[in-house]
Amino acid sequence: MSGLITMDDLSNEEIMSILDDAERLLPVAEGRTYLPLLQGKILGNLFFEPSTRTRMSFETAMKRLGGDVVNLGDVKTSSVVKGETLYDTIQMVDGYTDIIAMRHPRQGAAQYAQDAARVPILNGGDGAGHHPTQTMLDLFTIRQAHGTLEGLKVILAGDLRYGRTVHSLSHALTRFGCELIFASPELLKMPAEIVNDLTAHGANVTETEELLGSIADADVVYMTRIQKERFADEDEYTKVAGAYKLHASNLEGAKENMIIMHPLPRVDEIHPSVDSTRHARYFQQAFNGVVARMALLCRLLGINVPQKIADGGEA
Ligand code: CP
Repeated sequence: MSGLITMDDLSNEEIMSILDDAERLLPVAEGRTYLPLLQGKILGNLFFEPSTRTRMSFETAMKRLGGDVVNLGDVKTSSVVKGETLYDTIQMVDGYTDIIAMRHPRQGAAQYAQDAARVPILNGGDGAGHHPTQTMLDLFTIRQAHGTLEGLKVILAGDLRYGRTVHSLSHALTRFGCELIFASPELLKMPAEIVNDLTAHGANVTETEELLGSIADADVVYMTRIQKERFADEDEYTKVAGAYKLHASNLEGAKENMIIMHPLPRVDEIHPSVDSTRHARYFQQAFNGVVARMALLCRLLGINVPQKIADGGEA
């Protein structure tokens, strides 16, 4: 395996095996056990777009495993502003590091970087394209809550047009036989080529503009932010801003074990009243980014995660 650009780079068996590794790494992610599996390895963090969770959880994952991190930092203070190309930047960082995590505003940039690099690239989001490491932590969170990924009913709601997390996740959930409900305003529908591709792969997909009607039967409700930064026309954004707002009172008929997820950051699509319900899982989901990325870093660097990891002390 070279890098992780889309979920197509992983088989279902590899996904499950990486999630198993991630589960065993929980005491390391929580700082209870010290296990320097990545000592001597350097991660290059190249974030050409803003990020809190992806960038920081990659950094935490690397450091919890005894590795080091170098950051491009603020693009404005890098040589990108002098006109350095992505190709040249990758050539440099490739020489400085053992693995690269990259976010870029241009769809396809992660594959371009992988073609230019010798070290593995982890796609941390390429425009409205893919966000596979987010999908791995999403799958981890779903399996943690339901004990399985198979046959669940999952609502994906909000900005399905520009939201790269739902593009990657819907492909993965289809492979595990989940039923998908896409709830979005007409303007922000899941792109037709993605729906067609999912259907061609046997997906059971329903598209609707109505969110609340399906909640009673759902196992997972995955909310997303409307991606203001990807609208060419501010008036178009204004038409759909605030389209869905989930409040605790909307959850009264939900299944007891239904979970609400969100890749974060949220704006106003999940009211703070939801945070204290048994359904809220988005902050746990953000923490799970550390274990999922630890497991991915080990896998891509060819480091085996031990089958038994002590909970506490030095492993
Ligand atoms: N979920 C996610 O990608 O968050 P950041 O944009 O903060 O990295």
